[in-house]
Amino acid sequence: MARARSIYVCTECGSQSPQMLGRCPGCGSWETLIEEPIGAPPEEAPLVAPASGAPSSNVAMALADVDTGSAPRVATGVGELDRVLGGGLIPGSVVLIGGEPGIGKSTLSLQLAAQLERDAGHVLYVTGEESLEQVRLRAERLGEIPRSLLALSETRVEALAKPWQEHRPSVVVIDSIQTLRTERVESAAGSVAQVRECAALLSATAKSHGTALILVGHVTKEGTLAGPRVLEHLVDVVLNFEGDRGTPFRLLRASKNRFGSTQEVGIFTMGEKGLQAVENPSELFLAERHTGAPGSCIVPVMEGTRPVLLEVQALVAPAGYGTARRTSIGIDDARVALLLAVLDRHSEIDLLSCDVYVNVVGGVRVAEPAADLAVALALASSRLDRPLPQDVAACGEVGLGGEVRRVGRLDQRLREAGRLGFGRVLVPEGVAAAGPSGDGAIGVRNVGEAVRWLFENAAPRGRE
Ligand code: TYD
Ligand code: MG
Repeated sequence: MARARSIYVCTECGSQSPQMLGRCPGCGSWETLIEEPIGAPPEEAPLVAPASGAPSSNVAMALADVDTGSAPRVATGVGELDRVLGGGLIPGSVVLIGGEPGIGKSTLSLQLAAQLERDAGHVLYVTGEESLEQVRLRAERLGEIPRSLLALSETRVEALAKPWQEHRPSVVVIDSIQTLRTERVESAAGSVAQVRECAALLSATAKSHGTALILVGHVTKEGTLAGPRVLEHLVDVVLNFEGDRGTPFRLLRASKNRFGSTQEVGIFTMGEKGLQAVENPSELFLAERHTGAPGSCIVPVMEGTRPVLLEVQALVAPAGYGTARRTSIGIDDARVALLLAVLDRHSEIDLLSCDVYVNVVGGVRVAEPAADLAVALALASSRLDRPLPQDVAACGEVGLGGEVRRVGRLDQRLREAGRLGFGRVLVPEGVAAAGPSGDGAIGVRNVGEAVRWLFENAAPRGRE
């Protein structure tokens, strides 16, 4: 029997299949399989011969004797990035920064290249997308350019061997991995095979030289380009750069980190001079808040290990003809639908015949169930046309039975709320009774009780 000459690879998740299928058997996406020729298995040989004295890892040794002190972290100097990395870059490690086009990946990588060059080591910035003039113009915007920072405009992986050997950089930035191609694979730049092979080559080179490698990768919503997801198992750290392009807020989260936790989140704003760390996220998110308006409730959510206060807004209006409209931004539609059903069943307000709009201010996405109670109160407040008192926030998960459930790290959340003037926080009854959280905690057992509290403590609009 003749052997197949091609395999079919999913551009979303990298799963392989011997035949063409409409739907990927790995991740279930439709029409993402593309044909790839079967070539030699990916070669892990580095581009450049390893420096002499580089550690060899093919001898078994006692685990207890393994020296961990030899790989100190190199702080990048970009504080929020170091926080997410767990202190800095590890020599020889590979970090992937993924995100949608235009979110700020090039800006972040250039900022960190300049900062590293100033403080820590020698950096080679490789751009496959932009000309060196463009990169220079961007760098000028971001501040003074260190004289020794090296840049190279190149798309052939093999051509990186020479500068790598010549300059011995301690950090190499590749912007972006999708623009590179290697002679070892025939398909076009950006295809799954190319992206994987280039990344494998570069990472082998980085490992054998103790160079920290930063790969920038685009993720498109359609997944037409080989998404960085095919690289996830190849690299040590995966960072996702998120945000709404219409707002200046950007969040950097780790979804994989072999050297640290994936709990931390970096918070930036994109401004005239690039990305700035946000010291006080709560203050920023609440800066333009209108007090005394109905349909608004503050919730302390956890972004990584930091509590951040966010404003949830709701607008409830009687529906016209036909089906009521439901729109939510920054929070899952299904979550809002569930809360509407629970409010309908377990409180006295009627929302089902109304159009409902919910928005989390600042273009942030909230996935935590801890925001449930705040969403419910914002909805009730809009429906009743009663603004919540100015010093009130809410925090708790709402169950299908209408019960308000506990959430983690309540102490930290209450402290942050208190710090910003929200002295009273509606929380699940059990924790309020246990009393570890200060005097401001107001316990509620269920949404019905929370709505009643609102009705009794919030004056109708204009009469406060
Ligand atoms: P960029 O880093 O090019 O995004 P990516 O590499 O992820 O595609 O940045 C994109 C946007 O950021 C662009 O619309 C311009 C904006 N920007 C600023 O607002 N301030 C700045 O200082 C810079 C350099 C860019
Ligand atoms: Mg870019």
